[in-house]
Amino acid sequence: MDLSLHPKQYQVLTSPANEILYGGAAGGGKSYLLRLVSIVLCYNIPGLQVYLFRRTYPDLMANHMNGSGSFPELLAPFIEDGRAKMKEGEIAFANGSKVHLCHCQHEKDVLKYQGAEIHVLLIDELTHFTDYIYRFLRNRVRLGGLKVPSEWVSKVPLILNASNPGGVGHQWVKATFINHAPPHECKQTTDEEGGMLRQYIPARLDDNPTLTSNDPNYIKRLQGLGSEALVRAMRDGDWDIVAGAAFEKLSRDKHMIRPFVMPEWWTRFTSLDWGTAKPYSVGWYAICDEDVVLKAREGYPEKILPKGSIIRYKELYGWGGSADKGTREEAREVAAKIHAMETDGERIDYRIADSAMWAQHDGPSAAENMMDELARLRNKTPFMEKSRKDRIANYLEFRNRIAAKDGFAAFFVTSNCEHFWRTVPELQLDTRQPEKGPDTAQEDHVYDEVSYALVSRPQVWTELARDGYEYDEAQAKAKKADRKSQSRY
Ligand SMILES: Nc1ncnc2c1ncn2[C@@H]1O[C@H](COP(=O)(O)OP(=O)(O)OP(=O)(O)O)[C@@H](O)[C@H]1O
Ligand SMILES: [Mg+2]
Repeated sequence: MDLSLHPKQYQVLTSPANEILYGGAAGGGKSYLLRLVSIVLCYNIPGLQVYLFRRTYPDLMANHMNGSGSFPELLAPFIEDGRAKMKEGEIAFANGSKVHLCHCQHEKDVLKYQGAEIHVLLIDELTHFTDYIYRFLRNRVRLGGLKVPSEWVSKVPLILNASNPGGVGHQWVKATFINHAPPHECKQTTDEEGGMLRQYIPARLDDNPTLTSNDPNYIKRLQGLGSEALVRAMRDGDWDIVAGAAFEKLSRDKHMIRPFVMPEWWTRFTSLDWGTAKPYSVGWYAICDEDVVLKAREGYPEKILPKGSIIRYKELYGWGGSADKGTREEAREVAAKIHAMETDGERIDYRIADSAMWAQHDGPSAAENMMDELARLRNKTPFMEKSRKDRIANYLEFRNRIAAKDGFAAFFVTSNCEHFWRTVPELQLDTRQPEKGPDTAQEDHVYDEVSYALVSRPQVWTELARDGYEYDEAQAKAKKADRKSQSRY
C-alpha cells in the first residue's frame, strides 16, 4: 500500500512549526493528512501518545474509520503482521504508541482529558470547536518523560489542526491562525498563547491530486453551493468570508501582496485617521506608475499590479491591545513615530488627515501640534467634491478599487499591514443603511483611513455608474422632503 503524501501535505512534516493549521478548501486532503501523520509518528517514536479529535463521535467514525483512505484501510498491512491493533476508540502499535480517537461534543467533555499527557494533538475541523476547548487541549500538550529518537526530536510535541472556514469557531480560528502571520510564515506566539511556533499552511482542492483525478466533478459540486461567500470559503479556502461583510470582494488571495522594494520615483502619500481614546491609524501609500508583475516568492503567488493601482505598504496603528481601545498618545508623539517609520530618502508627496484633527478645543488643534513635526499635512475635506463628502462616497470608492476589473484589482495591501488584515475584512455592513458601508460601531479606523486615502485619488465615476452604485444626491433629497411632507408629526 502506498502511504505517501502530496507535496502540500508533506510541508507539514518538514515545517519547523509545532502549532499548525492546515487547510482552507474542502477536499484539500486534510483528514487524510492527519491520519497519515499519526501513523508515521507512532511508527517511528515508541510510546508516543497521539490524540485525534473531531467534535462529535458520528463525525469521527464517518470521517476516519470508513471508506477509502480511512484508518482500517491504511492500517491493514500493519494489523496483518501484528504491528498494530485496532480497538474501540484507539489504535495501539506494538511499540507502545497509541492513537486515541476522541470527540468533545460539549465543553464540559474536555475534563475527560484533564489528566492526559498529549504528545501529538490532531484536531480535524477545528472551526467546529470553541476557543475554550482548543485552549484546554493545547494546555495538555507536553512531552513529559517520553524519549524521542534524535531524528524526530524536532517534530514533537506537535499540534496539527485541519479545517475549512465557516462554523462556530470561524472567528477565533481566523484570529488565531490567519491573522497571526501571513500564510506559510512561522511566528512564535506569546506565553499566554502557548509559546509555540505557529503556522498556517493553506491547502486548496488542487493540492489534492487524488481527489481532482478520481472525481473531477467535485469542483462543480462545490460551485453549486449557492451563496458566493460559501463557494469562496469551500472552493478557495477563503477565510475573509463573513455573512453581511461590508467587503465581500476583499480577499487575501486577490489583494494581499508581499512587501517589495518600490521605485523611489513613485508617488507616495500618507493618510491618517485620528484617535486618542480610540485607535488612530496611519497608512503609507504608493501609486504604481506602470503595469508591474510582482514575481511569485516565499509562498506568495505572482500578482499583476496595473498602472495607477494604489498600494498600502506600511501602517502605524495606535492600538491599546483590545478591540477599539486607543493609546491616548499626544499628536506630537505620533508625529515623531511617523517620522521614525520613514526611511532616509522616503519622499512623501502629501499627507492627509481627517477633519477632526483641525477641531480646536482649548489651545492648538491636534493638527497644528502635529504640523510642528510633519510637513505637508492637509485636511482631507478639500479633496472631495461636494457630493462625495460622505460615507457613501467613501464606501463606493473603496468597493470600486477592490472590485477586480478584467480580473485586476486596483488596490493592494502588503502582508505586513497586520491591522488592516485584522480589522477590514471583518467589518459588517450597517444593516439600516447598507449603502453607507460598514457600521460605525465597529473597529473601523483602518477602513476610515484607507477611504480618505482612496478618495484623495478618485477613480472615474462612470465606472461606478456601470457597477450600479451611482448616488443621485438631488433625488435622495427630494425623497427625504417628500417623506417629511407626508409625516403627520
Ligand atoms: N496523500 C494522499 N494519498 C492518497 N489519497 C489521498 C491523499 N490525500 C488525500 N487523499 C484522498 O483524497 C480524498 C479527500 O481527502 P480528505 O478527506 O483528506 O480531504 P479533506 O480536506 O479532509 O476534505 P473535507 O473538506 O471534505 O473534510 C480522500 O478520499 C482521501 O483518502
Ligand atoms: Mg476532512
